[in-house]
Amino acid sequence: MLETELLNCGYGELQVIFDLSASIERGMITAVLGPNGSGKSTFLKALSGLATIYSGCVRYEGQDVTSMPAHQRAKLGIAYLPQTNNVFSNLTVSENLQIAGYVLDKREVEDRIDAVLDLFPELEGYMHKKAGTLSGGERQFLAIGSALIRKSKILMLDEPTAHLSPKLSAIVLERISELRNKLNLTIVLVEQNVKDTLLISDYAYILVSGRVAYYGDAGALRDTPSLDLIIKKFLFGREGA
Ligand SMILES: Nc1ncnc2c1ncn2[C@@H]1O[C@H](COP(=O)(O)OP(=O)(O)O)[C@@H](O)[C@H]1O
Ligand SMILES: [Mg+2]
Repeated sequence: MLETELLNCGYGELQVIFDLSASIERGMITAVLGPNGSGKSTFLKALSGLATIYSGCVRYEGQDVTSMPAHQRAKLGIAYLPQTNNVFSNLTVSENLQIAGYVLDKREVEDRIDAVLDLFPELEGYMHKKAGTLSGGERQFLAIGSALIRKSKILMLDEPTAHLSPKLSAIVLERISELRNKLNLTIVLVEQNVKDTLLISDYAYILVSGRVAYYGDAGALRDTPSLDLIIKKFLFGREGA
């Protein structure tokens, strides 16, 4: 559905990603793991049009989108949900969802908001609360709900469980998995929470210093006897700390 070929990108003169060829399959959850600073967020930004691409290409459903600006990619259904600032904190939950649907007609927005509340019933009681007062998990649900109202087809989630308790992290990941199953969405999931993420993912990339150190089946990586060693050596995530 979305692929890169020999992608080299970064910010201005700082190259972060080197010769990265990756493929995101439709309807699948693809985990992107790696230590801090390895280029995971930059990879998502390159896919969504927010990083400088020096060479290589990005294709979305067969179309070359390498030089397409972010707002146009968003219209095609590519949604990047940054780690923080992914909702309007000063607006209510209801206003956040309305704004996400501002290009749609009113009736359609109402229908879509109803659908989002079915998926995330915990938002229902908070419709008139400011988004800034939500808990971390609820805020993630609102950000994902807003992306669904915008009719995004591929969700790129940047560490949705960062700063959540282990218990809440597990709940958020479980909901992401349910969401994919119910809506057949395509999800790219950047995470530090390695083992729980592999449990819900189909494929996994490990990025180290902007290069692919591993690519394969998430289940196979989860079941490898050397997973703890891999986490220690490459990931230094929560489990490796
Ligand atoms: N907006 C930016 N401008 C310049 N450098 C950046 C920017 N964002 C990230 N970087 C740098 O790019 C490198 C990779 O960062 P990032 O992709 O955020 O890593 P990760 O998400 O894996 O922790 C880091 O060295 C970081 O300092
Ligand atoms: Mg990051």
